[in-house]
Amino acid sequence: MANEQRRIETLLGTMVPREAPAGLGESMRYAVLDGGKRIRPLLVMAAAEAAGGRHPEGADRAAVAVELIHAYSLVHDDMPCMDNDLLRRGKPTVHVKFGEAQAMLAGDAMQALAFEVLTPEPSAQLPCALQARLVALLARASGHAGMAGGQAIDLASVGRPLDEAALRDMHRRKTGELLCASVLMGAASGGETAVVEPHFHAFGQALGVAFQVVDDILDVTQASEVLGKTAGKDQDANKPTYVSMLGLEAARQYAAQLHAQALQALATCGPEADKLRWLADKVLHRQH
Ligand code: IPE
Ligand code: IPE
Ligand code: MG
Ligand code: MG
Ligand code: MG
Repeated sequence: MANEQRRIETLLGTMVPREAPAGLGESMRYAVLDGGKRIRPLLVMAAAEAAGGRHPEGADRAAVAVELIHAYSLVHDDMPCMDNDLLRRGKPTVHVKFGEAQAMLAGDAMQALAFEVLTPEPSAQLPCALQARLVALLARASGHAGMAGGQAIDLASVGRPLDEAALRDMHRRKTGELLCASVLMGAASGGETAVVEPHFHAFGQALGVAFQVVDDILDVTQASEVLGKTAGKDQDANKPTYVSMLGLEAARQYAAQLHAQALQALATCGPEADKLRWLADKVLHRQH
């Protein structure tokens, strides 16, 4: 995994331009390089391998693109009008370092860049149909039906207890859909067949929600120095989370149940899916 992470870092370093005008390049690179667990790109790579490894360039580009969308979502999530956070990935947040307007623009530009990365000149390595599929998957997971929609629910829910179905829907959108899209983009790049696609989909859906449940848990159990972001934010900001709804122990049990569902979805896949299984374990047992 360390090798994969290094390779992802190199790809991001090549694809995020230094020379964007008026400091924009510097703030984009600050936001996305040198930090982060790279779970989404790792899922892309693992799913591509599990599905047959047909189009490695597709997997590389999808890995970069999803990390760009994720890092942009963090830049905006941290801004004063949203979660108002000062620390991210162990560093001052982008708006603290470069100002609010630059943070907003860095996020905007990273979002556009993600789709630019997915659409190079069509080639044998990355045929048009695959480019279109990757764009569709990422766009749906990023917009109103996914991350942006979930973030809107998150902000509208401050101070309001949600019922279990509403909370699950929020988590699925704000975090789950991008993780699920990572798996599906990897699978598409790997050359998935119609037979296995539903397995990858079910895996991604369960793991995606599990990821945010664990994020809720870590927010109350872990220290800021370990997280690289401010701990205890959810309670301070009066956000509904799985911990506030169920309590810590039941939230842990729910995360474990989702993890089991994710593994069950891969039950008919062979050892080629072992990296996906390993990443699912990592999501459940991570310390930050
Ligand atoms: C944090 O995501 C925000 C959520 C969607 C829960 P990560 O925990 O993947 O953050 P990085 O990328 O490692 O910083
Ligand atoms: C963020 O959820 C989800 C995003 C889409 C960025 P959180 O607000 O809980 O993420 P952290 O805890 O700040 O990383
Ligand atoms: Mg938030
Ligand atoms: Mg936040
Ligand atoms: Mg959180």
